[in-house]
Amino acid sequence: MTTTNTQVKLHQIERRHTEAELLEMENKYCSFGDTVHYLEPPKFFERAEGSYLYDSDGTAFLDLQMWYSAASFGYGNQRLNNALKNQIDTLPQLASQYLHTEKVELATMIGRLNESKFGETGRVHFNVGGSQAVEDSLKLVRNETGKSLVFAFQGGYHGRTLGASAITSSFRYRRRYGHFSDRAHFVPFPYCFRCPYDKKRDTCELYCVDQFAKNFDTEYNSFWDAKAQESEFAAFYVEAIQGTGGYVIPPDGYYPALKKILDERNILMVDDEIQMGFYRAGKFWAIENFGVTPDIIVFGKALTNGLNPLSGVWAKEGLITPEKFPPGSTHSTFSSNTLGTAVALELLQMMEEIDYEKITREKGAYFLAQIKELQRKYPKVIGDTDGMGMALRIEICQEDGYAPDRELCDKIFAEGMKGDLDIRGKKMGLVLDVGGYYKNVFTLAPSFEITNDEIDLSMEMFEMLIRRCAPERV
Ligand SMILES: Cc1ncc(COP(=O)(O)O)c(C=O)c1O
Repeated sequence: MTTTNTQVKLHQIERRHTEAELLEMENKYCSFGDTVHYLEPPKFFERAEGSYLYDSDGTAFLDLQMWYSAASFGYGNQRLNNALKNQIDTLPQLASQYLHTEKVELATMIGRLNESKFGETGRVHFNVGGSQAVEDSLKLVRNETGKSLVFAFQGGYHGRTLGASAITSSFRYRRRYGHFSDRAHFVPFPYCFRCPYDKKRDTCELYCVDQFAKNFDTEYNSFWDAKAQESEFAAFYVEAIQGTGGYVIPPDGYYPALKKILDERNILMVDDEIQMGFYRAGKFWAIENFGVTPDIIVFGKALTNGLNPLSGVWAKEGLITPEKFPPGSTHSTFSSNTLGTAVALELLQMMEEIDYEKITREKGAYFLAQIKELQRKYPKVIGDTDGMGMALRIEICQEDGYAPDRELCDKIFAEGMKGDLDIRGKKMGLVLDVGGYYKNVFTLAPSFEITNDEIDLSMEMFEMLIRRCAPERV
């Protein structure tokens, strides 16, 4: 009786607060460190369905970022929600020292899939959250090689735990936390629109790869002991397509050329698919677009469509046998939790039944054509556009079409979040995500369930935002 009353009271207390009061409470009681405040004040939402978020007024916001690609299969996807609900009613909790069907079947499905894709046997290792899976992959690398130094890309993002921060390019994420002795050596990414070597994609002949190869020419370049035939570096961490870096797509031939060098120098390739995996870039793994086989793949986010968190690492058998990587190597209480594995298994089954390669290629192509049209129409606002599958980018530039325009990008983002765009008499909002080296890129990760009409609508709203925010440049 007492418990019920307390519950009712708590519920009522929660409901009684206005958003202004909640913001005051947030200001006083919530750490800001576990989030990012892109908008001041941050916005509340009450409901999510399909491609839309709804605020307390019932205003619909068409979402083109889908929780940074964690909810790729649509908010409230019924099939995946049901998998979660069924699991809650059968085996909602279980210590990971015991086994349950879904964990084993899920690992088997991913293992077999990679066997068919890459001709390599391997094992799957679970955790929760992308950064934790990155940590686990770092342990695998260190365990195999006995080395702690790795290469990673400028513009790369691998998370914000200490280990993941050490291999993420931004010093901003490390600045307050002391010395990172294992800080990665950051290599320029082939960001052709802003080539770090001022080359042109059509004529460069992958000059950037040659520059990387030169590191190993002599021991005095600091990477290679020619006598021992050994590099000081254990692995190269890559995002096949850079996510936070601005959905930057490398040119044809880049990865095969890079992988050749890594193989020659006995350096592992770790492919971070946390944002681009599960068809975001038109293939199950984004790296499949580039014709190389990584040694380790790290994944998370959309694996559970943003429901109960689950992440994981697939590694080639030789790196992860139970003898090499024994029980307890990275144990975490929630590592292969029953709820997450049940949803992920359902998702894997769904991806077998439904041709997401076709869906993401077709919808992505339709979307990209519209984005290119906008670029043609607004050359003084949009400097570059690109896309692969349903990972799309719009780079906001100044009038010259090249200098990054972060201010305008922020303005468009903030205006989209106001929810006051007039769409045939109805107020709507547009949810965008800002990324890129200069924070001037809209990284679009729409739901795979988005319809062509919704794509049209999103571009109509985007155009309204351009006209509202940069009237002198349209
Ligand atoms: C490529 C990539 N790696 C790692 C992470 C970190 O994942 P999480 O935020 O789940 O720790 C992210 C998150 O955005 C990511 O995009």
